[in-house]
Amino acid sequence: MFEKLVEQINSRIAFKPEIAIILGTGLGKFAENIDVIYELKYSDINGMPVSTAPSHEGRFVFGTIEGKNVVAMQGRVHLYEGYTPQQVVMPIRIMRALGAEKLIVTNAAGGINKNLNVGDFMMISDQISSFVPSPLIGKNDDTIGTRFPDMSNAYDKKLQALIKSTASELNIPIKSGVYAQLSGPQFETPAEIKMLSAIGADAVGMSTAIETIAAVHCGFKVCGISLISNLACGILDRPLSEEEVGDTASSVSERFEALIKGIIRNI
Ligand code: HPA
Repeated sequence: MFEKLVEQINSRIAFKPEIAIILGTGLGKFAENIDVIYELKYSDINGMPVSTAPSHEGRFVFGTIEGKNVVAMQGRVHLYEGYTPQQVVMPIRIMRALGAEKLIVTNAAGGINKNLNVGDFMMISDQISSFVPSPLIGKNDDTIGTRFPDMSNAYDKKLQALIKSTASELNIPIKSGVYAQLSGPQFETPAEIKMLSAIGADAVGMSTAIETIAAVHCGFKVCGISLISNLACGILDRPLSEEEVGDTASSVSERFEALIKGIIRNI
């Protein structure tokens, strides 16, 4: 199925990306840093799931940054949009099939750990995906990856070191922690946040973990950064809103863009 999607892209553009980037909620503006060679809307690819979430443009942007070939997903698709886990990870497999070897995932997340503040960057050191279905359930495609992928180095240690050294080179503060994915679209209850805290999650969101599973499965080296767009429910004593998430993202977008560009330069 996904080979047909890859063919559709290859028939439009001959381009081998080295690095793939997923731009999360409110972070899509980073695509303006790309010397664009070609843009392709998900809706122009037959069989491709289409972004319906606010502030997710829903397109692949192919081009160069710092002289490196990149493909960026300006907007992702989420489970809560009604897509199956397999559909959600389709773009990941496509970008790998196009030749990308490293994947940078980004997202907006709610801070659970008391050391995290709104506007912080959190390098993802590990993840908890146990509350959402695995995208690998079902018959395994051995041409893509192994049946039982090892997840002990899901966020590549070398890339984690590179993120930290890049951040310090640029004087951009960055923390690190464990990201937990829940399906959403409702924000969590205070009881759920207590539970997540107890099991070791530092931040929570509605994406990324299943993408990382598929990415590891198909052989990507993965690294990730969460933007702490809000404190999780119950950490702060007031209701959460989607606007808050977008507003924080725009307020730190310059620092975010500098950091991602630096990471790409140093990869
Ligand atoms: N919870 C879940 N997803 C999120 C949050 C949150 O607090 N913030 C941004 N995405």
